[in-house]
Amino acid sequence: MIQAMSDSKHESPDSNQDDPADSLTDQSFDGIQQYDHPLPVWWIWLFVVGLLFAPPYFWYYHNGTQGRSLADHHEQELAEVLKLQFSQMGEVTADRETLVRFLYEDSWLRVGRSVFKSNCVACHGREGVGKVGPNLQDDHYKNVGDIADILRVLQHGANAGAMPAWKSKLSTNEIVLVSAYVASLRGSGDGSGKPAEGRVIAPWPQAPPPETDATDQQKSPE
Ligand code: HEC
Repeated sequence: MIQAMSDSKHESPDSNQDDPADSLTDQSFDGIQQYDHPLPVWWIWLFVVGLLFAPPYFWYYHNGTQGRSLADHHEQELAEVLKLQFSQMGEVTADRETLVRFLYEDSWLRVGRSVFKSNCVACHGREGVGKVGPNLQDDHYKNVGDIADILRVLQHGANAGAMPAWKSKLSTNEIVLVSAYVASLRGSGDGSGKPAEGRVIAPWPQAPPPETDATDQQKSPE
């Protein structure tokens, strides 16, 4: 067999015992000879079909038409879920009592969080750690003395527009929920955020007693 090195043209048909479709090529290296073993036809067709399929597929999803990409679908679904959630929530008023109620409802805080993520993170940082805008995790506030002031700041802005007004950009429901989320951030920091600005204010009001009818409470005498 050592002699086979010098004698690579070994093309006798019976050297191919395994598969009659295989034939020996004239390639050899170190006495190892190469078979010509064709790919299965189904495999080649799969390859061809894949090649033909890919360009139109790519074009369909990436030609810039709105609403086709996965990201667009995801956004549409999120918007629908939000609409559904808001229809459950009903029309709320942006007042102190409503805000305090939502501050203690975790599932709604999650909706507020998504509003925060898409509108506020650019200036207030992830989870409100502070960036251009102040840290929203500490006990210090510049424009907020009472929890209801958060609503006011959101609606009308602050510091001559450094904090923009959101009244015309967000719905009342969104303003209430994002305000509740902002309030919930207080005390969540680990001290690594932006240094405190403003003054320390009193803690937020406690959770309202469960299942009390708000109108009865208002009517009750002092
Ligand atoms: C363009 C940047 C910017 C964006 C976007 C922004 N903010 Fe602000 N925000 C600021 C700045 C700057 C201040 C501080 C204003 C000042 O100096 O009095 C501020 C202040 C605040 C305050 C008062 C904090 C305090 O200490 O008094 C709250 C609450 C707040 N922002 C919430 C939000 C929420 C919620 C959003 C998203 C809906 C948002 N901000 C989006 C820049 C921004």
